[in-house]
Amino acid sequence: MISAVLPTVNVLYENPAWIPPLREALERQGLRVRLVHVDEGSIDASALPPDGIWMNRISPSSHTRGHVHAVELTRQLLYWLEFHGRRVINGLSALELEMSKLRQDLVLRRHGIRVPRTVLAVGREHLLAAAATFDGPFITKHDQGGKGLGIRLFRGAAELGRHLDGRNFDAGPGARVILQEYIVAPEAFITRVEIVGGRFVLAMRSSTADGFELCPSDVCNPMPVNASGLFGPSPLAPDDPLVCKYIRLCLEEGIEIAGIEFVEDGRGRRYTYDINGTTNYNKVLGRQIGVDGMGEVARYVHWVAGAFVELEAGSLRQV
Ligand SMILES: Nc1ncnc2c1ncn2[C@@H]1O[C@H](COP(=O)(O)OP(=O)(O)O)[C@@H](O)[C@H]1O
Ligand SMILES: [Mg+2]
Repeated sequence: MISAVLPTVNVLYENPAWIPPLREALERQGLRVRLVHVDEGSIDASALPPDGIWMNRISPSSHTRGHVHAVELTRQLLYWLEFHGRRVINGLSALELEMSKLRQDLVLRRHGIRVPRTVLAVGREHLLAAAATFDGPFITKHDQGGKGLGIRLFRGAAELGRHLDGRNFDAGPGARVILQEYIVAPEAFITRVEIVGGRFVLAMRSSTADGFELCPSDVCNPMPVNASGLFGPSPLAPDDPLVCKYIRLCLEEGIEIAGIEFVEDGRGRRYTYDINGTTNYNKVLGRQIGVDGMGEVARYVHWVAGAFVELEAGSLRQV
């Protein structure tokens, strides 16, 4: 039953395919959902935003679905919402972190988390100069990444130079290219840790045997986990020191819903390289390990909505 008391949850989204599981989970919590599609639109600077709480579900790969303005418009919308004191789950600071792998690297290091060496470069000359500073193999990726965009392995600056001379080099939004030390993993998998509201939800392994596109959602991967062999549970403990650091990072950097990825080298060193804010959980894996990721998101949103009502009423109980 939809609650008359709880505030509406306004969901900023760009990809309709990702909405049904979120919407169903929120409605199961009795929350009223208002979907706000973001790509083209307007913001009246003199107007107040609609009531309710807000949730940002804009993905850094939105331009690949034809929504080329979604990220920029969301940036302005979030500023406007936060300016007016609206409660936004994964607000502007989370958006900015998700939209730049350079910023992710800086923030990870601030929290004492090991990262692969990372350089951002714009322009051919600077890409080649940066490439020449790597001793071993490196990969390129888009600073505003997602879906494995722009990911390619190079063995040196000369190989990158030949690739840049070809016609199909795509530097991505803002032509901001990341060059990153390639971590050789003896076992072909990466680990992804899901955190919601400062709590560990699940950890999963994704096989890298077939390449770098590892979107875990049901839309990207409708195949059952065991049949595709792509995803499986991870033995990572919820109180692993790395998980504790991730949780602290999420709390301090204002990222309330996060999927964080690391890869392990032959000496067991774990390198973290990706922070996502718009996870779509794989239901098959969820059933296998007995964790409903989207259900956890919805429970968190319900808690935020409840706290919002009490704050508005000035009745937050003190004990
Ligand atoms: N530094 C790295 N060393 C080895 N493999 C990497 C590295 N960075 C990324 N990868 C591989 O490429 C995949 C996609 O990279 P990622 O940075 O997560 O981009 P996206 O944001 O597109 O998901 C990773 O899941 C991993 O398998
Ligand atoms: Mg990734």
